[in-house]
Amino acid sequence: MMSVRSLAGACLATVASLCVVAAPVSAQNYPTRTITMIVPFAAGGPTDVISRIVTANMAQTLGQSIVIENVVGAGGTTATTRAARAANDGYTLITGHMGTHAASVPLYPKLAYHPEKDFEPVALLAGTPILILARKDFPPKDLKEFVAYVKANAEKVNAAHAGVGSVSHASCELLNSILDVKPVGVPFNGTGPAMNALVAGQVDYMCDQIVNAVPQINAGTIKAYAIATPERNPSLPDVPTTAEAGLPAYQAQAWNAIFAPKGTPPSVIATLSAAATKALDDEAVRKRLLELGSVIPAPANRTPEALATLVRSEIAKWTPVLKPAT
Ligand code: MLT
Repeated sequence: MMSVRSLAGACLATVASLCVVAAPVSAQNYPTRTITMIVPFAAGGPTDVISRIVTANMAQTLGQSIVIENVVGAGGTTATTRAARAANDGYTLITGHMGTHAASVPLYPKLAYHPEKDFEPVALLAGTPILILARKDFPPKDLKEFVAYVKANAEKVNAAHAGVGSVSHASCELLNSILDVKPVGVPFNGTGPAMNALVAGQVDYMCDQIVNAVPQINAGTIKAYAIATPERNPSLPDVPTTAEAGLPAYQAQAWNAIFAPKGTPPSVIATLSAAATKALDDEAVRKRLLELGSVIPAPANRTPEALATLVRSEIAKWTPVLKPAT
């Protein structure tokens, strides 16, 4: 006959093993309601466009709607701070990128989050080469003339960006440091609105992600001097690389990815990661992303583990580049 003490011990052990084995029911059945995807910039910009293309397909796979919430300010760090503090139940996610989850670390000494400590990487969505763009009537005809003009008129020219720490800000900080110029920065809530200003001729130039530039370049409403990647992009075959155009030192590519708050259950991360990679293998999604110049990562590079490695390496890469800017 078991003593009361040993019976109690056996019951406790059973209960404990049940708790260890069974993930919370909510995680097992995830998702059971609408998911919010925070986009840290205004609608219409590259982060917004990539998010909407991919999440529309993810929602079909997950059987729940994914609502995009554009939260702007401080180069994307306002939204990213909010996402870091959100419930880690899988129902609040963020589309972050090279700015929010790398460049912001050296640029904001008191950043309210850390990309590695406060987030669970979910999936890398798209690489986005950077282009040097200008208003249509900007005097320089090519990149060589652009470099000479900006150097000669450094205190007069202005460069649009999406806030300190954004991709457009960080990638032009790199360009400006190579040219040793300090143009006037004109911040916007995203490069969607910034592109409108560039098309309207209200700002002089901008370093922006290809997905935001392709439609305007093809429409002839802005100038594209070069793409800052080793190879030309199939969506813009006539735009030279920076190396071809005489500025090989300027190489810049951003990326957009999904993150969840730290502590989000692994089973939820796995469900989201699987839906994201399925979206990136969908023909219609691929067609839209590729025609906008995105670089769709190979499956092995989309995983949470691969994204964690990317974030770590990007923080290490951009910190020495941007530290002097503070
Ligand atoms: C940026 O970092 O410049 C943003 O991606 C711009 C945007 O998405 O609006």
